[in-house]
Amino acid sequence: MKSYIYIGKEIETVISELAALRIEVFRDFPYLYEGSFEYEKEYLKTYINSERAFLFAVFDNEKMVGATTCIPLMDETAEVKEPFEDAGMKLDEVFYFGESILLKEYRGKGIGKLFFEERERHVAGFGNYTKTCFCAVDRLKNHPLRPESYVPMDEFWKSRGYKKSEVLKSMFSWKDINEPLETEKTMIYWLKKI
Ligand SMILES: CC(C)(COP(=O)(O)OP(=O)(O)OC[C@H]1O[C@@H](n2cnc3c(N)ncnc32)[C@H](O)[C@@H]1OP(=O)(O)O)[C@@H](O)C(=O)NCCC(=O)NCCS
Repeated sequence: MKSYIYIGKEIETVISELAALRIEVFRDFPYLYEGSFEYEKEYLKTYINSERAFLFAVFDNEKMVGATTCIPLMDETAEVKEPFEDAGMKLDEVFYFGESILLKEYRGKGIGKLFFEERERHVAGFGNYTKTCFCAVDRLKNHPLRPESYVPMDEFWKSRGYKKSEVLKSMFSWKDINEPLETEKTMIYWLKKI
């Protein structure tokens, strides 16, 4: 396996592979995202337009099997910035972590930990950020599509030094695989001081 780093506009060179991987991995609970390339193009534009945006992608032969991203909070969309503004935080000191996605057969080998290390190393390189953060979808405990074997990622995130915020929340919209139209979901932020 090989890994590559893409910064800002370079992300555009692998946009189809990244979109396909996101659609495949986020179809599962808790995301249940019925992806479309139109939605993906719009979403990924934010990263391509940010000079400090970062993609770390893992390939097996020529196939992208894992990816993780991050971007300065200042370069994120209004719905991501809003809760931080409302909480009176300095947006230019925060780096936002996007997805961590890996095809199932490549999980459990430490790549998820590497994803955090690579992103935190990228952020540390700038020297002016004091916090990293990411958000996770808040699903009902008794959601009908929750697999019995599902284990929340909370313990893993805590082990990486992240703490769930009591106040920072955003609403993101997408279409769930079992619903006819897009609906809003609550996303809860996790933060780490660096
Ligand atoms: C998140 C993800 C990238 C982690 O990848 P990974 O390579 O399997 O993670 P690691 O091998 O580094 O394992 C890290 C730790 O988390 C635990 N872990 C991994 N996947 C887990 C899961 N789905 N649920 C709960 N714990 C999990 C592992 O047991 C390990 O703990 P340990 O060190 O105590 O053994 C992968 O599970 C994934 O793609 N999940 C689906 C997408 C997703 O939910 N992403 C997160 C939000 S964007």
